[in-house]
Formats: sequence, C-alpha cells, structure tokens
Amino acid sequence: MAITAPESTGTVTLTIDGREVTAPEGATIWEAAKAAGIDIPVLCHDERFDPVGVCRMCVVDVGAPAFAASCVRACENGMEVKTDTPELSSSRAMLTELLLSDQPPRERDPKQTTTADNELLDLADRFGLDAARSDIPAASGRGADLSNPVIAVDHDACILCDRCVRACDDLQGNDVIGRSGKGYDTHIAFDLSDPMGASSCVSCGECVASCPTGALTNKPIHNIAIRPRTELEAVDSVCPYCGVGCALTYYVDREKGAIAYADGREQPGSHGLLCVKGRYGWDYAASAQRLTVPLIRREESYPKGALSADVRGDMARGESNNESNNQSSTPSNDHGMNADPKDPKSKRKGGKRGRKPGGLVDYTEVLPHFREATWEEALDLVASKLTAIYEENGPAAIAGFGSAKCSNEEAYLFQKLIRTGFHTNNVDHCTRLCHASSVAALFEGIGSGAVSTTYGDIKNAGVAIVTGSNSTANHPVASSFFKQARRNGTTIIYIDPRADKMADHADIYCQLKPGTDVAFYNGIMHEVIRLGLTDEAYIRTRTSNYEALKQTVAEYPPERAEQITGVPADTIRRVAKAWGEAKAGIIFWGMGISQHTTGTDNARCLIALCSITGNVGKPGAGLHPLRGQNNVQGASDMGLIPMLYPDYQKADD
Ligand code: SF4
Ligand code: SF4
Ligand code: FES
Repeated sequence: MAITAPESTGTVTLTIDGREVTAPEGATIWEAAKAAGIDIPVLCHDERFDPVGVCRMCVVDVGAPAFAASCVRACENGMEVKTDTPELSSSRAMLTELLLSDQPPRERDPKQTTTADNELLDLADRFGLDAARSDIPAASGRGADLSNPVIAVDHDACILCDRCVRACDDLQGNDVIGRSGKGYDTHIAFDLSDPMGASSCVSCGECVASCPTGALTNKPIHNIAIRPRTELEAVDSVCPYCGVGCALTYYVDREKGAIAYADGREQPGSHGLLCVKGRYGWDYAASAQRLTVPLIRREESYPKGALSADVRGDMARGESNNESNNQSSTPSNDHGMNADPKDPKSKRKGGKRGRKPGGLVDYTEVLPHFREATWEEALDLVASKLTAIYEENGPAAIAGFGSAKCSNEEAYLFQKLIRTGFHTNNVDHCTRLCHASSVAALFEGIGSGAVSTTYGDIKNAGVAIVTGSNSTANHPVASSFFKQARRNGTTIIYIDPRADKMADHADIYCQLKPGTDVAFYNGIMHEVIRLGLTDEAYIRTRTSNYEALKQTVAEYPPERAEQITGVPADTIRRVAKAWGEAKAGIIFWGMGISQHTTGTDNARCLIALCSITGNVGKPGAGLHPLRGQNNVQGASDMGLIPMLYPDYQKADD
C-alpha cells in the first residue's frame, strides 16, 4: 500500500529552501517538500508504494558531505534542506544523461511514440539533454520480450527503478517480477527469467501503469493505436465485470469508434488498481459481433427454435465453425444480413460437431434470421407483443429479468415498468443465483442485505476470514487488498474445499469437505465461547437469542467438527483463537458459501460469528459477501427482486 509517514507521535520542524516547514515525525523530506508545494523530481519513487531510493534523482542538500535521497530520508528537527542548487541540478542532469545513453532513440521509444509520457525523456527535456549529442557511449541491447499478449517488454528502455517490482509485489501481491543478471546484464525478470507470457504473470498491467519509461507498455488491442491521452476522449466509467466495481478511465478513439486503452482511476473502493479483466478486457466494445442497431426476427424464421446447428445438435461430423467464431471471419458492418437464411451453405461456415452448447454460436448462421430495424419500429413491436400477452393471459404471463450490470436508474425503471405496466412482481436478476441466501440471512441477522464494510477496511483488521471464494480469479482487486493486508500483519484465514491461489496467501488454510460449513463454524463458535473470547457487552446490547446459539454450538466441540468437516481439531482451535483474540475481524465470503442448499444457514453462521465477538460496526470488522456483478447491490436496492420494492419495502405488505 501507499506508505506515507509511519503513524506519527508528533511533528518535526525543518527548513526547506529557506521556508520553515512542519511535518509529521517520520515523514520523508520529499513528502514534506511536496506538502509545502516544493517540487523535487523523482524517478524510482511512486507514492503508491514504499520508497526504495535506488535512482538518486531526488537528491537534496542537507548540509552533509553527500547529497541525500529525499524520497527515503526522514525529516529531522532543525534540518536545513536545499532542493534546488546548481550542484543538485548538475547531479540530476548527469544522472539523466547516463540513464538516457542506454535508452532507445526518442523516435523509437515504445512509450514516447504511444502515450508520450516517458518520465525520463521529460527529465531530459527539463535539463536540455539530447542523447544523440551525448559523449556517453550507448550500450549494446538487452533485448525485448513480446511473449505476453497485451504487454510489451523492452529491456533496453528499463532503468531498473523497481517500480514494476513493487507494483507487482506491494500493490497486487502477485510477486512475479524481480531482477536477474549482473552488472550491465541486470534486467527485470519474470519468475525464473521466464518469458513474460510463459511466467505466472496474470497480466493485471499494474507494472505497465507504474513504469516511468518505455520498458513496459501496453500492446494495441485489435490494432487500435495507443496515442497520447490528450488526443483521445477520456471516459470515466466502472469496470463492467465483478462486484469489486473498480473505477477506470477508458481512452476512446472516436475516429476508430473504439477504446484504445484503460487506466485505473482513484476511488476509495479500488484505489486505482485494475485486474486483467478491467485493464484489457474491453475489446468486446469494438467487436464486429457487437449489435449496434435493433434486429427483428424475420417472419420466415418463425416458429421460434434454436437457430444454430450447434445448439440444435444436428451438425454433421467434421464440419467446423471455429472460423465463424473468429471475429476476422465475421461480417463487420452488416451483421451477416446478406446471407440467405434458407441456404445452409450461406448460413454456416462449418462447425465442430458435438461442441457443448453455451459458447458463441455461429454468428453467420444465426443473424440471417434477423433484419435491421429502427428503434421506433423495434420498441413498437416489443410494446405491442407484451401488451397482447398481458391482455390475453394476464399479469402472471409476464416476467422481467433485469441485469446487475445496469445502473440504478435502469434497474429502477425496469422494475417499475414490469410492476406498474404489467401489474406483476415477476421481476428478478442474478442475485437470485449468487447471494439471495446471504441477503436473506443478512436481513434476518443485521437488518440490511448490504455489505457492512469495504474491501479496503481489511487493512484495519487483525484477522480476516475469506471463505467460499476463489478471490484471486473472481475478485482479483479485492484479493490484492487481502494480500496487502497480510503483508501489513493481518492474519488471513482461508476456508474452502479447493486449495486455489488464495490458500498460498493465507496464514491458516482449512480445506473443509464440501457442504460442511455449518459444522465448521459451529466448531469455531464452540471454541470461541469456551475460551471466553466473546464480546459480552456487544452480545448483551446488540444481539438476541445468544443462549440458544450457545446451546447449539455446545454440541460441536472441535473433535466432532473435525469428524464432519475433515479439518483437524487443532486447526479449528487455532482459527477460533486467532479470530477471538483479534482486535477486529472481518469476513469475506463468496458463492462457495451462498450457493448451497444450506446457503442461508452458512451465512447465518458467519453473521453469528461476527456478532458474538462484536465484529460489526467498527473499523476493520464486518460482513462482506463478495458480489458477483458490479451493481448487484444497486439492482437489489432498486427493487429488482420479486419480494421487495425499491428501498427494501416489502412487496407483500
Ligand atoms: S521495467 Fe520500468 S518500472 Fe520496471 S524497473 Fe524497468 S523502468 Fe522501472
Ligand atoms: S477486480 Fe473486478 S471490477 Fe476490478 S478490474 Fe477486475 S474484474 Fe473489474
Ligand atoms: S526518486 Fe528518490 S532515489 Fe529515486
């Protein structure tokens, strides 16, 4: 995480460029100068992670025989600091010239020729340096690595500032990048000097976002050129994938009608981080298969039925439709409308027999069954058909499925259309599948179906339970917060039948048998109560039915829980102790908890565990179901569920 001053116990007063400055004890000179509006150039430093002081661009004069690196040197009382003298300028200029001598020429620099924000070249301009006129001999090349599909590595442009290493380790917790080689051959390395594309890199792109030079850059996707931000339209948005809802900015090339690249955007929930899906997974926006106009099914394509041979399952052996699932073979501007729907050859460019239905269907086979229409025509058609169904069959014949990827306004309007237009509560969305059980238990247990805290609050927790969640894959940026917290001392307890990557990042891993969650948590609560680690005041003032719970869990000593769950009794005791003794505990759970026949009981156990230890409603504590889509919460708030109107007013009242 971004580190500023350690927790301060006081302040220090010093002079920077003749100005008296007061800074928190432990703050660096660079931080104090920045707060005072004094600019000190940096290269290896980035406020988002711990300073390492490897480049010495930020040196200042503190009256000592040697200049001090201001990004790591702490302020001292009475210190007199000069940040801008001819000697300092000369030192910085010499350093820049030395680094520049190894760089690719400006006109070939991977960063300057794309986003044009190479920080080393900015410094060269500031000091009036031109590599072509330098006497310093250029070194021989260290090569490039183009093995990753979305990230290009140019080792010649690397200045070994270690920003990428810290972004990978400290921010995302992936620990892929390090250094390898000696002397001039020193270079950044992925795993054991593997090609980046063959390494354990997950392509989150945080290294690219952190690199000051052209050493790590984004590759163009679908040949949309990467250009300076000032030449593109910046569109602030939210990642459309998982429930973390990371904030980002798309840089849109309006001439090409496509996104060129995306940057993480600062926001309390995601702190500017993105995973591979948010940073690179938007190419669908410019897909040739994207529908851009309404389509109406042709009369001759009724009665309805599966249009693709794949889905019908009647494809002949040996035919292949792989080609048609490749965008390059898909009509790019007419949705395949020119094919003849009655001619099998024009409908199908082959297919793979027996492919499991559910993937991409053969586009050129399906689209000829539709014709383009205007919005007016399409909306009139939908309205007339829905009205006819309603009039003939009544409200029960209509149901509306909304989306947790839509905005609150869209969710509200959709449920209102179904309820007031067709007089039915048959509205729903995907929360029915993912966390309906969690919401039911949360409503019952704490009166609200929402999370009680944020992902980032884990940094305040002494212990965190992550359960039923493959977070590194499903909620990657949330897992980055979990990994960061562990580095800073939070004990991570991971509970899941599958030993996926989160298990590697846990202090305690419990591999319970599938479906035994209730027994496991009863065992934990049994032990918490036996050890007297409950919060009696919280139980007395904020809970009900504690005695009944106590009686129930009395039946689950760790040995019995071990028999049922397969988790050793000693591990259950360790978990209970770690949880009960922590100053604050937080629980994150995924669909491994909620999507069970006992899903509501599973969530009830987690709520009870937090409740008996007073772990709701204070920093670093709380209940956090990891939602699947980016606006499940909003869709539920807006009443896109059958039993509740907007703002959780009961539909059966
Ligand atoms: S690749 Fe970029 S961020 Fe990493 S060490 Fe080299 S210059 Fe620094
Ligand atoms: S963590 Fe989720 S919301 Fe964030 S970038 Fe990845 S997929 Fe998108
Ligand atoms: S910026 Fe301070 S040493 Fe690199």
